[in-house]
Amino acid sequence: MNGNERPLAKKLYIRTFGCQMNVYDSARMADVLAPLGYVPVDQPDDADMVILNTCHIREKAAEKVFSDLGRLRAFKQRKASEGGTMVLAVAGCVAQAEGAEIVRRAPYVDMVFGPQAYHRLPEMVARAARAGGAVLDTDFPEESKFDHMVAPERPATPGADASSAFLTIQEGCDKFCTYCVVPYTRGAEYSRPVADVLAEARRLCARGAREITLLGQNVNCYHGRAVDGREWGLGRLVRELAEIEGLSRIRYTTSYPADVDDDLIAAHRDVPQLMPYLHLPVQSGSDRILKAMNRRHGADAYRALVEKLRAARPDLALSSDFIVGFPGESDRDFEDTYRLVEEIGFVQAYSFKYSPRPGTPAADMAMQVEEPVKGARLTRLQDLLNAQQRRFNADCVGRRMDILFDRLGKRAGQLAGRSPYMQPVIVDASKSLLGGVAAVRITDGHANSLGGLLVEDEDRDGVRKKVCA
Ligand code: SAH
Ligand code: SF4
Ligand code: F3S
Repeated sequence: MNGNERPLAKKLYIRTFGCQMNVYDSARMADVLAPLGYVPVDQPDDADMVILNTCHIREKAAEKVFSDLGRLRAFKQRKASEGGTMVLAVAGCVAQAEGAEIVRRAPYVDMVFGPQAYHRLPEMVARAARAGGAVLDTDFPEESKFDHMVAPERPATPGADASSAFLTIQEGCDKFCTYCVVPYTRGAEYSRPVADVLAEARRLCARGAREITLLGQNVNCYHGRAVDGREWGLGRLVRELAEIEGLSRIRYTTSYPADVDDDLIAAHRDVPQLMPYLHLPVQSGSDRILKAMNRRHGADAYRALVEKLRAARPDLALSSDFIVGFPGESDRDFEDTYRLVEEIGFVQAYSFKYSPRPGTPAADMAMQVEEPVKGARLTRLQDLLNAQQRRFNADCVGRRMDILFDRLGKRAGQLAGRSPYMQPVIVDASKSLLGGVAAVRITDGHANSLGGLLVEDEDRDGVRKKVCA
């Protein structure tokens, strides 16, 4: 092969579980593998390499990996019987936490590597081709994977086009909430340098991004080094990003309440591009439980923080994560959570039954809550959260909002996008508006989405009505 020839295309299938950071990481893995000739495909059946990018946050999430592996083994065997090879890899947080277990339970897996090692993928592929058994790489390398990444080629997106993009700016966690595996699977807290983040944001915008969601396990702990050697917090970074031509929306997730500082709050007041929607997980409304969780905020401190944020940005909509049935949670503790949800008026939330994770302190705590109790509490909480979400959506009817259309609707002639408050919005609109922001009058508030009419069309209808009258 001479230097100009590209290697033969090989099919790469990546299945992503878990959080947005895994979505971002999967796109980076595809980037790292592209020079070896791997091209992403939508189906695993006939792929030359399959990567499961896994999540370890709750037991159910972790178990999915093993059921998927069983199915993939059959594909791998079929491919081998036809004289081909399928490289099977497990990446992400389950790989980090249970690497040896995966190799033991699924010896047909070729590579197992953690979230900090995927820049070494090409080397692992070569080793796997030589090795008889699985290549296991679950070290926390000295070097940062970010320094070894090629310039991102594939934007990681929540939608179907490049208009909304994820950008990981911070990774890892030093908080050690007593229920959580993340500090063990992602390692110590790390912030990418300011210049790298800005360069990547500019590149994303040049390729059509109108919205960037900054990602981090604790994104507001961001303390990236600027060129002058000083450290920038998230507020400062947001202000700088807002200067980028064409970037009309900035979001960040997930934030840690105790680390929201005044500068970030001020950014919510001063930066119109910073969207009025914030995911700020509180987990529980009971001080006793928050303490046992090792969260560094009490319920009243959370209330006070929300008040400050709303003073800065009055239309701020809040979402949260909740864990019910944490060890020792009494009915009264749960009622405290229920009351907090009503008081804050969360418009969206993720809520989970506490899932004991091996190796975390809470898994060994006395007074584990019985499953039926967890289930009943979760149902009650979710009923309340759903009602609040429905009410918020209904209250949006009649309002005019800017919608970023980032995908086609399910039906022909429709586009789907997001409101400033993250609600999915479905509108009859021409494909030419895909990837852009347009003004929409909200006409329907459903449980999980909104419907609307392009203001342009509304105006035209208005004119028509006038002409006809
Ligand atoms: N860094 C974020 C959370 C990341 S994990 C924060 O501090 O808020 C995402 C969510 O998963 C958490 O907010 C929590 O609600 C949930 N979670 C984490 N560990 C869990 C466990 N052991 N059982 C149930 N839910 C859990
Ligand atoms: Fe997990 Fe707590 Fe860190 Fe969030 S802050 S990732 S819940 S340890
Ligand atoms: Fe899951 Fe790891 Fe993200 S455990 S939630 S994939 S950080």
